Amino acid sequence: MSYFETKPYAVVVIGAGSGIGRAAAEFLGAQGVSVACLDRDLPAAEDVAQQIRGRDGEALALAADVTVDASINTALDRVDAVFGRIHGLVNCAGITGRTNLKGHEVDLADFDAVYQINLRGAMVVSKAVLPRMLKYGYGRLLHVASIAGKEGNAGMAAYSATKAGLIGLVKSLGKDYAETGVTINALAPAVIRTPLVEELPETTVTYMTEKIPMRRCGTLEEAAQMIAWIVSPACSFTTGFTFDLSGGRATY
Ligand SMILES: NC(=O)c1ccc[n+]([C@@H]2O[C@H](COP(=O)([O-])OP(=O)(O)OC[C@H]3O[C@@H](n4cnc5c(N)ncnc54)[C@H](O)[C@@H]3O)[C@@H](O)[C@H]2O)c1
Repeated sequence: MSYFETKPYAVVVIGAGSGIGRAAAEFLGAQGVSVACLDRDLPAAEDVAQQIRGRDGEALALAADVTVDASINTALDRVDAVFGRIHGLVNCAGITGRTNLKGHEVDLADFDAVYQINLRGAMVVSKAVLPRMLKYGYGRLLHVASIAGKEGNAGMAAYSATKAGLIGLVKSLGKDYAETGVTINALAPAVIRTPLVEELPETTVTYMTEKIPMRRCGTLEEAAQMIAWIVSPACSFTTGFTFDLSGGRATY
């Protein structure tokens, strides 16, 4: 069964070059969705688009950086030109910045860099894509937040704060557009083994994983399945919400 019976259906995945974004792009492509793979790492985006096309899917790769609004607008103009319109967008662009630091040890330049991508970047993406969706009275916008935004992970002040901000942003935007046919939601994963997690100190990964009641990490397949459903027409009565993907860690 496919979540996407109405075709064509075009979804933009930002951060498609790696990890959760890559898994979501590949899963959507296999569902017959036209996928625009955006990443600041263009060769990585090209690689995933190539992979989708190699399995008879439709995909396009574009360079885009969420910290630069002109870059996002130019890429979305191109997606509009090639696919006609944008039905859904999944924003997976995110970084942890330096971790394993107490608050007073945080470097403010690093804090700013994390903010630029994780929170301001989500606003840049929302501003760029929402008018394109509102024009058709339909859209599915999904930002990938984190359980860290709900609970606050020790040693990860910048990451936890910006992900909490992102959850607040989604709550607000969901209400702004609740009557328009455009939904705006977030996803809060716990730990999924991706390059982002592999770069963290092992003590940080152990700290995060031990908090998961299911006593395991989430899988990329589990993330991709949930993302695909949230950006599909079937997910129609939920907006401003943060979906849980935490193996029981989240309590709200
Ligand atoms: N992996 C986890 O356990 C986990 C848990 C909770 C939340 N998340 C969130 O999920 C999202 C994806 O994480 P991941 O683990 O797949 O990471 P990843 O590092 O594997 O992939 C992130 C991708 O985003 C791209 N990117 C980074 N900055 C960008 C920018 N400014 N503009 C455009 N693209 C940019 C990178 O090039 C990379 O391809 C992130 O927002 C992350 O915070 C991940």
